[in-house]
Amino acid sequence: VSEPRLYDPSRPDFQDRAHEVYRTLRDLHPVYHHPEAGFWALSRFDDVRAAASDAARFSSEGTDTSQGLLPMIQALDPPRHDSLRQLVSRAFTPGRMAAMEPEIRRIARELLDGFALRGEADLLESFARQLPSRVIGSMLGVPPERREQFLEWTESLVEAQPGKPATERVRHPAMRIYQEFARLLAERRARRQDDLMSALLDAEIEGRRLGEDELLGFCFVLIVAGNDTTTNLIANGAVLLADHPDQRKLLVEQPERIPGAVEEMLRFESPAQALPRIAREPVELHGTTIPAGALVRLLWGSANRDERAFEAADRFDVTRPTPRHLAFGQGLHFCLGANLARLEARVAFEELLRRIPDYTLRERPGWRTSIWARAHSAVPVRFEPRAVG
Ligand code: HEM
Repeated sequence: VSEPRLYDPSRPDFQDRAHEVYRTLRDLHPVYHHPEAGFWALSRFDDVRAAASDAARFSSEGTDTSQGLLPMIQALDPPRHDSLRQLVSRAFTPGRMAAMEPEIRRIARELLDGFALRGEADLLESFARQLPSRVIGSMLGVPPERREQFLEWTESLVEAQPGKPATERVRHPAMRIYQEFARLLAERRARRQDDLMSALLDAEIEGRRLGEDELLGFCFVLIVAGNDTTTNLIANGAVLLADHPDQRKLLVEQPERIPGAVEEMLRFESPAQALPRIAREPVELHGTTIPAGALVRLLWGSANRDERAFEAADRFDVTRPTPRHLAFGQGLHFCLGANLARLEARVAFEELLRRIPDYTLRERPGWRTSIWARAHSAVPVRFEPRAVG
């Protein structure tokens, strides 16, 4: 039996109570059904992992988030997914990621230069929001003067607007993004540049190249998946370190622990809280049957706090032995940008803590209303002003 509206992330107060709601779901309603909205939700670590690993029964095609959009990698099933993934992975190699490190560090330092002497800042607006969009923009080849506009479009895609159907909510900014990319791709067709868009034009597998719709769909995914999630990882992490000054001090003294801390940030406040699947056949789980055709939300954010999978799951601990969290998903849709996001977050915290080792929150940051994202609306901090260290 489901409690009506227990899990309803479109409610403005949901994010304040998210972890409390998730615990009730895991303990009492591991196969939750929202009676009015009609969707189902899985919240336990083992169940979310198993569903994400079973693409035959839990399909990524035709969910409510992808309606009205061009085909995108994360909304495709095999075999179309696998050939597209193979193709784009070639333009998205670990080498290309690693080569980005000096550029990421340069951008992080430049952003810190902008406010380190002021003694106060909104770390979300001035740092966490800027870094990923400049990195992905520079990687893809979006001209600097267009990046703010892209940011605004992608943010309006992620924002939940209760009362408006999903299709209407996403279509307008999505069309603007497609149009802009179509223009940028046309420029590169005429003259290749040293960027990912040009590499994607030439990426080829078994004699096949990406079609125009696939190119646009993929650029769209990169800019949408690569901006907001990484921003929230950095912003959520900055708040967690403000709330745990002893752990922050440890990272200042031992920066080699930052990669482990980033994994714990991902686990503790997962930027992507939930993503949808469609049940292709009836699925029986914990004595409940999810009917064929049902929309099923996988709650990564809850799975990562499941005490069945993590000791003291509600304790933030940067020294935790590498947690096997699900923040980047699991299975064949495992985040293609995971290494880039990890790299950006590592560099962001290395540079932030070097320049501003001690900061306090000016007020408790609020959460944005969102069905999918764990996102603060601002991270206002104060600190000792410091010149270049
Ligand atoms: C902290 C940052 C990030 C988080 C938390 C995150 C999370 C995720 C998750 C949970 C999935 C699985 C989707 C599913 O199973 O339906 C995913 C897939 C994906 N992510 Fe990320 N992501 C992040 C950053 C990035 C970045 C920086 C990029 C690209 C530049 C990216 C590109 C993608 C792509 C292309 C997929 C689809 C892969 C596929 O379907 O094969 N992500 N991400």
